[in-house]
Amino acid sequence: MILITGGTGYIGSHTAVKLLEQNKNIIIMDNLYNSKKEVLTSIETITSKKPRFYQTDLLDISNLEQIFQENQIDCVIHFAGLKAVGESVEEPLKYFNNNITGTINLLMTMKKYNCKKIIFSSSATVYGTAETMPLNEDSPLGVTNPYGRTKLVIEDMLRDLHASDNEFGIVLLRYFNPIGAHKSGLIGENPNGIPNNLMPYICKVAKGDLHQLNVFGNNYDTIDGTGVRDYIHVEDLAAGHVKAYEKIKDVNGLFTYNLGTGNGYSVLQVVSAFEKANDIKINYKIAPRRSGDVATVYADTKKAETELGFIAEYGIEDMCRDSWNFYKNLR
Ligand SMILES: NC(=O)c1ccc[n+]([C@@H]2O[C@H](COP(=O)([O-])OP(=O)(O)OC[C@H]3O[C@@H](n4cnc5c(N)ncnc54)[C@H](O)[C@@H]3O)[C@@H](O)[C@H]2O)c1
Repeated sequence: MILITGGTGYIGSHTAVKLLEQNKNIIIMDNLYNSKKEVLTSIETITSKKPRFYQTDLLDISNLEQIFQENQIDCVIHFAGLKAVGESVEEPLKYFNNNITGTINLLMTMKKYNCKKIIFSSSATVYGTAETMPLNEDSPLGVTNPYGRTKLVIEDMLRDLHASDNEFGIVLLRYFNPIGAHKSGLIGENPNGIPNNLMPYICKVAKGDLHQLNVFGNNYDTIDGTGVRDYIHVEDLAAGHVKAYEKIKDVNGLFTYNLGTGNGYSVLQVVSAFEKANDIKINYKIAPRRSGDVATVYADTKKAETELGFIAEYGIEDMCRDSWNFYKNLR
């Protein structure tokens, strides 16, 4: 049985669908802080399966333990966490408590119930401000904000845990920029308020919820001066988790993989891909650079390809089409 923490969230729900489609047994837990219970109905509509759900907070260790008491959990895919960079700068303790304490509770409970397989949602943010591209798994690590620090601390904790007990099987997945949505349009990303990330922002502009897109900086050393990132379709990302699970289900060890496409697209290239895929004009204006942003970030994907057999399949226009297909129907 696989426990998915944060399984009603954006990436967790897509991964739940992929695992159910492969007839894996899963349990979902989430405190619904940043997701809705209706996601469970969408998962059931897509897969015709209804996984058991616990509305539980990782900070509530006794309720967490109940999940392990009631189920034979062999592996945890750990998505649950807070992820808003700006908020983490304003409220670092909230982030340290939720993400780090929550993960400590999870790991202590896993150890107590002899569950020693975990796949962790890390991020390309752990590469800090590295400037040599592409980023490979041995690129230097660093942090630029409290959210990134929680990811790096949790990675470090997992490295220490594995060093102390090599029966653990651990995969650290460093995501680049997940966008897109399930092709059904039933699950996707729906952030509250003004989004930090490009694609939700573009969708809000496309729908008329926001007047125009701010493009932060057009004088970077890139193809058109705007920032370049490695966008990956959430469906590809979800498939990467299934591959990671297959990798560690029967072996021990600690493995780290980038999950990206290896291709960078500038902000204006994404805008134009969105316009082309959906036949909608996006108003934008050039705004000053945001502090902490770097010109270009993209992944070296060789290790994931060689060791996991992971290759992203979807292109940037697919990502733009599927993002909008989900977002346009939201009320
Ligand atoms: N989306 C991205 O761009 C991105 C990039 C890199 C890494 N990540 C990481 O991937 C993971 C999933 O991201 P996502 O985009 O699906 O985010 P999300 O907010 O949609 O999903 C996270 C889920 O975790 C739940 N959660 C948070 N704290 C919890 C707690 N203490 N107990 C129980 N549930 C809790 C939330 O309610 C939410 O449903 C996160 O750890 C995030 O940091 C995301």
